[in-house]
Amino acid sequence: MNKGALALLVHGGSENWSPERWKGRFDHVCEGRRVWLLPDAAFDPAEIHYAAVWKPTPGELAGFPNLRVIFNLGAGVDALMADSTLPKVPLVRVAVGDLTGRMTEYVVLHVLMHHRQELYLRACQREKCWEPRSQWPASAISVGIMGLGTLGSDAAEVLRRIGFRVSGWSRSPRQTEGIECFHGNAQLDAFLEQTNILVCLLPLTPDTRHILNRKLFAKLNRNSPMGAPVLINAGRGGLQDETDILGCLDDGTLGAASLDVFATEPLPADSPFWMHRNVVLTPHNAADTDPHEISKYVARQIERFEAGGPLENVVDPARGY
Ligand SMILES: NC(=O)c1ccc[n+]([C@@H]2O[C@H](COP(=O)([O-])OP(=O)(O)OC[C@H]3O[C@@H](n4cnc5c(N)ncnc54)[C@H](OP(=O)(O)O)[C@@H]3O)[C@@H](O)[C@H]2O)c1
Repeated sequence: MNKGALALLVHGGSENWSPERWKGRFDHVCEGRRVWLLPDAAFDPAEIHYAAVWKPTPGELAGFPNLRVIFNLGAGVDALMADSTLPKVPLVRVAVGDLTGRMTEYVVLHVLMHHRQELYLRACQREKCWEPRSQWPASAISVGIMGLGTLGSDAAEVLRRIGFRVSGWSRSPRQTEGIECFHGNAQLDAFLEQTNILVCLLPLTPDTRHILNRKLFAKLNRNSPMGAPVLINAGRGGLQDETDILGCLDDGTLGAASLDVFATEPLPADSPFWMHRNVVLTPHNAADTDPHEISKYVARQIERFEAGGPLENVVDPARGY
């Protein structure tokens, strides 16, 4: 074993984040390379060249003098960006088809759920009430996606194929066939004014924190057959002002919301979101991380990097994503 070692620092919650499971996968894909699952008293910090991490404790990565690359085991790097002691080496985030496909499933499921009036229909079923409402076509609904990156652009494409009118909003200009693209603060209002279902797949950065607030919801379009607009947030909880969401659901500014992420996770038992009749909530599992796919992705990147090739999906610390 003479290749630089890989340190695994995984602080998760769900079964998928079992540190031993990640260790087993990395041992399998990193042939000839030592993989340390930390904390481990026996390892020498100087032998660590790579770290693969999920939610490490701030400062935990500072003690490796020969660290070359940090691999975040998910797409969002907001937790790492908040660590002022983060070593100044390239930080690589996850962008793999497996994760993207899962997020697209979530987005399509929830867009269809609101478009097809599932909240109303399930309530009718519980009450044995046979009262069909008329149903409109997908083309009557404009879905606006905030964040047209790896995840947003894939979901946009699938929704367009189903027949929705789809637009997207990003930081820099983008061009995608069949998707109306808006960018920057100057075009945000125009994007919102024609959006009936707002899907948020933004990263959490200083620029996007609490962007989902009452002022923004009030600009959404109410002229579709659905009436009040709908919010779907699978980005991060820090993107949303939760008091505003609840207030807007209660006064009709928003008709309904699907929320996968929250300011505090796990969502506290006394949160009003649990029981709200117009909220569909999921426990931050819109796009679960698959250790099998992601360990292969990291191992491939290390092999290429050691052969003198470029790293992919490197985070820009100035942008924060
Ligand atoms: N709930 C879950 O299970 C789950 C799973 C995976 C990921 N996520 C979240 O999804 C986020 C997005 O992932 P991704 O892979 O699609 O990221 P990405 O490829 O980096 O795309 C981010 C998109 O957001 C846009 N953006 C960033 N800051 C902006 C700003 N200030 N104004 C306007 N647009 C802005 C970017 O614009 P440009 O195109 O101009 O750069 C880009 O289009 C992650 O950061 C993570 O928080 C959630």
